[in-house]
Amino acid sequence: MCGIVGYTGFQDAYNIVINGLRRLEYRGYDSAGIVLENVNDKLSVEKTKGKVDDLVDISEQLKGIAKTGMGHTRWATHGVPSDRNSHPHLSNNGKIAIIHNGIIENYDTIKTMLKEKGFTFKSETDTEVLVNLIQYFMDINPETEFPTAVRYALNEVYGAYAITVMHEDYPGVLVVGRLGSPLAIGIGEKEYFIASDASPFVEFTKEAIYLEEGHMATISLEKGVDIRTINDNSKIEAEIQELKLSLEQIEKGGYEHFMLKEIFEQPKSVHDTMRGRLIVDEGVIKMAGIWDHVEKFKNANRIIIIACGTSWHAGLIGEYLIEEYARIPVEVEYASEFRYRNPIITDKDVVIAISQSGETADTMAALKLAKEKGAFIYGICNVVDSSIARITDAGSYTHAGPEIGVASTKAFTAQLTILSLIALKLGNHNGNLGNAEFMRLISELDAIPKKIEEVLNTTHELTQNIAKDFISATNFLYLGRGYNYPAALEGALKLKEISYIHAEGYPAAEMKHGPIALIDENMPIVIIAPKKGHYDKIVSNVQEIKARKGKIIAVVNKGDTQVSAMADYVIEIPETSECFSPIVASVPLQLLAYYIAVYRGANVDQPRNLAKSVTVE
Ligand code: F6R
Repeated sequence: MCGIVGYTGFQDAYNIVINGLRRLEYRGYDSAGIVLENVNDKLSVEKTKGKVDDLVDISEQLKGIAKTGMGHTRWATHGVPSDRNSHPHLSNNGKIAIIHNGIIENYDTIKTMLKEKGFTFKSETDTEVLVNLIQYFMDINPETEFPTAVRYALNEVYGAYAITVMHEDYPGVLVVGRLGSPLAIGIGEKEYFIASDASPFVEFTKEAIYLEEGHMATISLEKGVDIRTINDNSKIEAEIQELKLSLEQIEKGGYEHFMLKEIFEQPKSVHDTMRGRLIVDEGVIKMAGIWDHVEKFKNANRIIIIACGTSWHAGLIGEYLIEEYARIPVEVEYASEFRYRNPIITDKDVVIAISQSGETADTMAALKLAKEKGAFIYGICNVVDSSIARITDAGSYTHAGPEIGVASTKAFTAQLTILSLIALKLGNHNGNLGNAEFMRLISELDAIPKKIEEVLNTTHELTQNIAKDFISATNFLYLGRGYNYPAALEGALKLKEISYIHAEGYPAAEMKHGPIALIDENMPIVIIAPKKGHYDKIVSNVQEIKARKGKIIAVVNKGDTQVSAMADYVIEIPETSECFSPIVASVPLQLLAYYIAVYRGANVDQPRNLAKSVTVE
């Protein structure tokens, strides 16, 4: 969603804020804005529809004028992307500026009340309502200090937010608050940073406070960081954490796009996911999160996997893995549906939440519900200390490193790796997966990073060439069976989100129940057909497509003859056990989507209408 950056210290706030916004632009990129305390302690605001570069074009005159300021990149919720709706928003008296990530659900009621008191509004946003509510509390009692007024206002609103607020009469002071959206405070030498994640300040400090749910903080050089609870103003001792993030991890490292960099990082990221967990020489999987709660899993009535988007696709593969090897029933749910359909959950259920960002509002809301009903909650998150990671009872981080491209790639393969480890570990522990087969499978899993490397080497150029032939395609079908049915869904999602070509994923056998009607010589069909996994059936499906003249792009194992003979394009991948084949097969599909989007001139890292972490329901 939106990205927030704030700064107070001795450096030029303009540079810090603009550079920080560039790093957070992946979170939202339909508009951007900045506010600085100018030399007279007045607020100077510039904002515009568009990207951070567009903001720079109109705001360079602010360079060097201030040591305190804040900025915002927006992903529109209330009100279309426009200059007016961009943040920061100012209060009616022009003294208070706010930037906000999230949604104020009761903004309409508050807006009506404020209008009755004479307030006027320039934008359609919920955020402008909040900043005027802060002014209102200061107006009705002039004794009310600025941070107190922020607290009063936050007690009146509900929804989800991370905010940063400045007041003209409080130079060098930033007030922040958080409920449902992340906010980190970087602690430097005589300087403080605020950001939606630590990337904007990683080169300046390794110390940060992650603001907890329902907390706010007043930050100034004079008084440091004063953290309070929003509801009753109790003082909270700050817990300073050491950042593990490095600058290198959040830069493109010579690649044209983050997405390509992240695709190429997968041999390492999958290896990092297994590091210290999969010890093939000892024949063990060490996962404290699972091991400490193994009885919960063993005695579970069922496992419910909750996720959205790509993480939901990983969850579907997790279902296949856990049911096959651990023989525990699994259900996979879209978090947004689960949350609102009054699901039956008991304390005998284990809920696994999968989320790259760890901030997805739908997943978070579903988890809260499951927790209330007594289920044991296990998290699979990439972002350390994220909101979802914090509310779970236990969990495993994927350790894929920061994923900045909006389309998820390395996080997906890391999620599949964790799910494989969990399924094999549980299966071996509960006796459904014998030692010999366990050993064989863990050796294979251990070899996956090398296989991904091989696929990257052998398919990089090939996928570019194939992509060139499909620049003008308007539709795509992706088909797979068994473990590769969710891989087909994921392949289709990658293509549609970055190239804007309509794409559907289907279980290959379902084709004849409807989608086959779409097939003619103009329909490209990507079919995932590794040797292990219903190969003969897939051969029949390919014949059916061939008979209708569809353009077949087949992902097959090296040395394949049958499917390859019928395909128009062949992408070879090394053989693996069926259960790991989606990890390997996804890589050329990511590359194919990437190059089709690049050749169509799309903004691959920041596709239209999307944002990296979806912190609104
Ligand atoms: C697709 C994509 C999204 C996310 C979804 C869930 O490439 O990135 O579909 O997978 O928004 O996000 P997380 O995993 O952060 O909960």
